[in-house]
Amino acid sequence: MPTSTTVIALTVAAAMTAVRTVHGLDNGLALTPPMGWLAWQRFRCITDCKTYPDECISEKLFMTAADLLVSEGYADLGYKYVIVDDCWLSVNRTADGKLQADRDRFPNGIKALADYVHSKGLKFGLYQDWGVKTCAGFPGVFGYEETDAKQFAEWGVDYVKLDGCYSDVRDMDLGYIGFGQHLNKTGRPMVYSCSWPAYQEDKGMRINYAALATFCNLWRNYGDIDDSWTSVTNIADYFATKQEFWAQYAGPGHWNDPDMLVIGNYGLTVDQSKSQMALWAVLAAPLFMSNKLNAIGPEFKEILQNRDVIAVSQDALGMQGYRVFRDRGIDIWTRPVEPVRGGSYSYAVAFVSRREDGAPTPYTITLEHLGLKHYTGYTVKNLFNKQLVNGAENYYVTPKSVIKVRVNPSGTVFLRFDVSMSVVNSEDKLYNGTLKDSIAFI
Ligand SMILES: *[C@@H]1O[C@H](CO)[C@@H](O)[C@H](O)[C@H]1NC(C)=O
Ligand SMILES: *[C@@H]1O[C@H](CO)[C@@H](O)[C@H](O)[C@H]1NC(C)=O
Ligand SMILES: *[C@@H]1O[C@H](CO)[C@@H](O)[C@H](O)[C@H]1NC(C)=O
Repeated sequence: MPTSTTVIALTVAAAMTAVRTVHGLDNGLALTPPMGWLAWQRFRCITDCKTYPDECISEKLFMTAADLLVSEGYADLGYKYVIVDDCWLSVNRTADGKLQADRDRFPNGIKALADYVHSKGLKFGLYQDWGVKTCAGFPGVFGYEETDAKQFAEWGVDYVKLDGCYSDVRDMDLGYIGFGQHLNKTGRPMVYSCSWPAYQEDKGMRINYAALATFCNLWRNYGDIDDSWTSVTNIADYFATKQEFWAQYAGPGHWNDPDMLVIGNYGLTVDQSKSQMALWAVLAAPLFMSNKLNAIGPEFKEILQNRDVIAVSQDALGMQGYRVFRDRGIDIWTRPVEPVRGGSYSYAVAFVSRREDGAPTPYTITLEHLGLKHYTGYTVKNLFNKQLVNGAENYYVTPKSVIKVRVNPSGTVFLRFDVSMSVVNSEDKLYNGTLKDSIAFI
């Protein structure tokens, strides 16, 4: 059993300090990690609409996504941004230097698409690139920053993803900040997603995260996600390596972005999908699905629509969680959440199995070992599997209670411990739950 509880105490203290000192981009947006749908991971740069009419980057793809976000119940849960990624542009600007969408694939233009998305009660996001070209080779904003920022506002854009291909990494800090100021001057509030740290990280440069938190609502820290468990764990491990540094810059209005959710596609099993969803919730990551919304299996949809996990993701404190232990193939991640009582946080705790040997791994730990020490104890909820032992949903545990989990290979048991509002006097029923000295999540 791990013993270094001081590590947790220190990391949590650091996170608390940071929440008080970092001031984010002051546009009133993204106070919780933004949620929605983003084309790139699943649809890339498919432009052949004759052969792939349902998959090509076209107004139809985004209108369909908007329709399905609403009709399939995602919008009600918070998935409200419909975001166009690369390959929407015409290869040329207009004669007067304005950006224009590809005419065949976006025959009604971007304004009409934004209007359609808005008519569904959703928000509209658009991709561009700070360089001379986008990553796929279309015209970038470099040299046209003011014109393009105004254009976005005129079109009704609510969210700008600004990539960094075809630009000089050394100039990115100032370039991105400058473009952000042009966005600000339009007077239209637009979420601003920056990519400069991913490019500078790649070059081993020192990254000015304080500037990111001041000028961007979110930023891509690291490489693109792919549709595989290897990619998900690679990103999670990299975030864990950097957590002491990165987590302090996350908070309402300013987020680290480990990239899209790939749940519901080809690469992740059901267990791995639970793991990505739990990890992204713990990391206070934006939740942007990149998938084919009308072709998602019900078991994957249930994961994407898990209200309890979304509640962790959208917790108002906005504190990014940490990987606190690695032990016998189980990674334990914790995130402080509301409610807070007497200076003690509630916690979401994810037990993520990195094992691939066939049987579920049993793991036992007390709450005090996880740093959950509040004397009034906690109510506990199992977020992916509502059934606890005896079929009850709510139990009450103390810091000395033993938590027993059994984690499927590459899966996750995700628990939530809400600090109790009243003191326990005995093993009486309390808080609509039953006091447990030992509780098993099977
Ligand atoms: C783009 O501009 C180039 C150079 O003016 C021209 O040759 C080409 O036909 C244009 N392409 C489109 C799709 O307008
Ligand atoms: C522009 O920046 C100012 C100062 O940070 C802020 O108060 C305002 O809300 C911003 N406006 C928009 C539209 O982003
Ligand atoms: C306990 O359950 C009752 C009835 O379901 C509910 O009204 C009450 O709010 C619950 N109390 C707490 C503390 O959750």
